[in-house]
Amino acid sequence: STPAITFHDGRSIPQLGFGVWQVGPEETAEVVGHALEAGYRHIDTARGYNNEKGVGAALAATDIPRDEIFVTSKVPNQDQGREATLASFDATMADLGLEELDLYLIHWPAPGVGLAVETWRTLVELQEQGRIRSIGVSNFRAEDLALLEAETGVLPVLNQIELHPYFAQPELRALHADKGIVTESWSPLGQGGGELTDPVVEDIAAAHGATTAQVVLAWNLALGNVVIPKSVTPERIAQNLASLEVELTSEEVTAITALHRGEAGRQGPDPSVFGGHQGR
Ligand code: A2P
Repeated sequence: STPAITFHDGRSIPQLGFGVWQVGPEETAEVVGHALEAGYRHIDTARGYNNEKGVGAALAATDIPRDEIFVTSKVPNQDQGREATLASFDATMADLGLEELDLYLIHWPAPGVGLAVETWRTLVELQEQGRIRSIGVSNFRAEDLALLEAETGVLPVLNQIELHPYFAQPELRALHADKGIVTESWSPLGQGGGELTDPVVEDIAAAHGATTAQVVLAWNLALGNVVIPKSVTPERIAQNLASLEVELTSEEVTAITALHRGEAGRQGPDPSVFGGHQGR
């Protein structure tokens, strides 16, 4: 079974999950069904992915008990603020067909800073009502995390950020470690940015008899991050889960971490200039 990472609220999350960003609404039920059959017990979705109904259909169809599957969703930017967040959460839960959500995230730091704080207080409220087990954020910068802490005193259990070898997020990882916030990596495979054909990664993959995708995921896991690779291909879905069996040496981990390119390695939008993104 998948190793678990413990949050500062005492709950835990399977370290490797299945991400459904960019999985089409009509294929999501089938693809999530494959992932559950392959052995994934953690599904990462969002209102903004437009596929929560498909996730809900897969959860309804499986024999796996509800408490053995960890489900994350996220409140989109246009639903920030107390009333809109409450309505958005209800819609998410109806589509997922769930009574309680394992983890709910603010998807992006809102363009207006006050709004993220109000949304955060609303997540705290939903958690107190027992509707959400753990609360966190996504795409938050250091200043966004500082604002939540200063205004509410409640730290997110996790921050889900873009993180892959060419964009390794050293500063945020250090800040998270200091604050006890778990780092969760989106686009851990680098979205076609070149890591999967990088010579350093290829050499390490050859040494382990693994694919480059498995090595890139194994590196992310070795850093202690939660990782949520996406694939619609059953063979790759299984291959990515098997990255848990690839054990890199500390020298290999260091060699991959050294591939970091700073801002040049970023594939997705920069939260500093793009707080309004909805897609991921
Ligand atoms: P597909 O869904 O067609 O299998 P990321 O998680 O970094 O955003 O990357 C997702 C992309 O990587 C998707 O295009 C996905 O394609 C592809 N992908 C997923 N798993 C693998 C793998 N094991 N090997 C190569 N490409 C993969």
